[in-house]
Amino acid sequence: MKIGIIGSGYVGLVTGACFADLGNDVICVDNDKAKIASLKKGVMPIFEPALEETVLRNVKAGRLIFTSDIKTAAMASSIIFISVATPPKSNGEPDLSQVENVSRQLALCFDASYKLVVEKSTVPIRTGEWIEHTLKVHAKKTARFDVASNPEFLREGSAINDFMHPDRIVIGVESKKAKDTLLELYKPIKAPIIVTDIKSAEIIKHASNSYLATKISFINAISNICDKTGADIVKVAEGMGMDKRIGRAFLNAGAGWGGSCFPKDVAAFIHIAEKTGYDFKFLKEVLRINEEQKKNVLEKIRNGLWILKGKTIAVLGLAFKPNTDDIRSAVSVDLIDMLKKEGANIRVYDPKAAAKAKTILKGVVFCKDAYEAARNSDCIVVMTEWPEFSELDFNRIKKLVRQPFVVDARNLYEPQSLKKLGFKYVGMGRR
Ligand code: UDX
Repeated sequence: MKIGIIGSGYVGLVTGACFADLGNDVICVDNDKAKIASLKKGVMPIFEPALEETVLRNVKAGRLIFTSDIKTAAMASSIIFISVATPPKSNGEPDLSQVENVSRQLALCFDASYKLVVEKSTVPIRTGEWIEHTLKVHAKKTARFDVASNPEFLREGSAINDFMHPDRIVIGVESKKAKDTLLELYKPIKAPIIVTDIKSAEIIKHASNSYLATKISFINAISNICDKTGADIVKVAEGMGMDKRIGRAFLNAGAGWGGSCFPKDVAAFIHIAEKTGYDFKFLKEVLRINEEQKKNVLEKIRNGLWILKGKTIAVLGLAFKPNTDDIRSAVSVDLIDMLKKEGANIRVYDPKAAAKAKTILKGVVFCKDAYEAARNSDCIVVMTEWPEFSELDFNRIKKLVRQPFVVDARNLYEPQSLKKLGFKYVGMGRR
């Protein structure tokens, strides 16, 4: 099939590369000319496992091309995905001006051939209606098109795998032709497909992400009770997770959720609900617990060091989660801000995210590895559970630090194993 992807960010690029890998002809568009120029040279704008190989393979096979000209994609494609950014405004409401702008530009290019315009970006309920309205206002009378919603559920770090092996595919449509077109497109992927109206598909996306964030905030709240009582959150989560109705996934207590999706999507859902006249107090609390959790990490450091001014803190991990170089809404960045305000000296190390972090983190020392970061530190705080951190030689670290104190904000280590080596250890809901 002929596919256009408008917006070659995380979602658009992965989606385009994967559809090409399934044998379709794909044109990925972005108005960032520098990004398109480097993609043409085979340089990825993000680190994502298997993305580079997938892109290069399909470019070589002639199934994937990049352009900054939306018209090329609009004319050549019968299915056009909109995957542009929907950044939050200061009140949490998503800014949809890029979605509107793209819809208008697409409409102006449409001829009499059938086009299916699919919203892929996470957007508020009713965006589908607005896209359709915009297309109708600007397209020629002879233009034939449908609008559909096909939300993504890709996790950074495993996005390609998630695309090829999803738990489910959600298709929101209002016509048989749109339904048949998307069913045909997704035929090669073995996964259950749920077909709904557009509004329900839009809500499935918001409800799913908010529910996952809720699960994490719930276990973080329980971890606070574990802290106060001496119970072990890892055992509690294991015991809860064995109940199939609950499940073990997304019950890892830690420093809180971050990234480009959860913070933005939870805030957006609260705002969307408010607009419908529903005060989503429950979700506001989920958000509050997440903010509180960051401060809990700071408190744990303070409790072990007394005065933070002049102390040296080694922060291991900056990315909002492992296997990505993404630091958008990473909890590490907020923690470092709080520590700096207290007058602490910060040494940081991240296996992938340092380059991006250097652009926003000022006044911190970037180190070449975890050992270098730990040198002369009064506290080591683990903010991202990168696999390489579980392999660290703590005997070696003990000789490097000023004080052997670990705040394990991702519950990566067995408390006893570090305590045996003479470290003071504090986890999140375990000690
Ligand atoms: C998320 C959704 O999982 C995905 O379906 C959606 O399309 C986009 O948003 P992503 O942001 O890539 O994906 O990361 P995810 O793996 O969900 O983790 C989000 C945050 O939650 C991270 O900061 C992570 O550290 C945190 N988390 C996750 C926990 O604190 N505990 C957990 O048990 C799981």
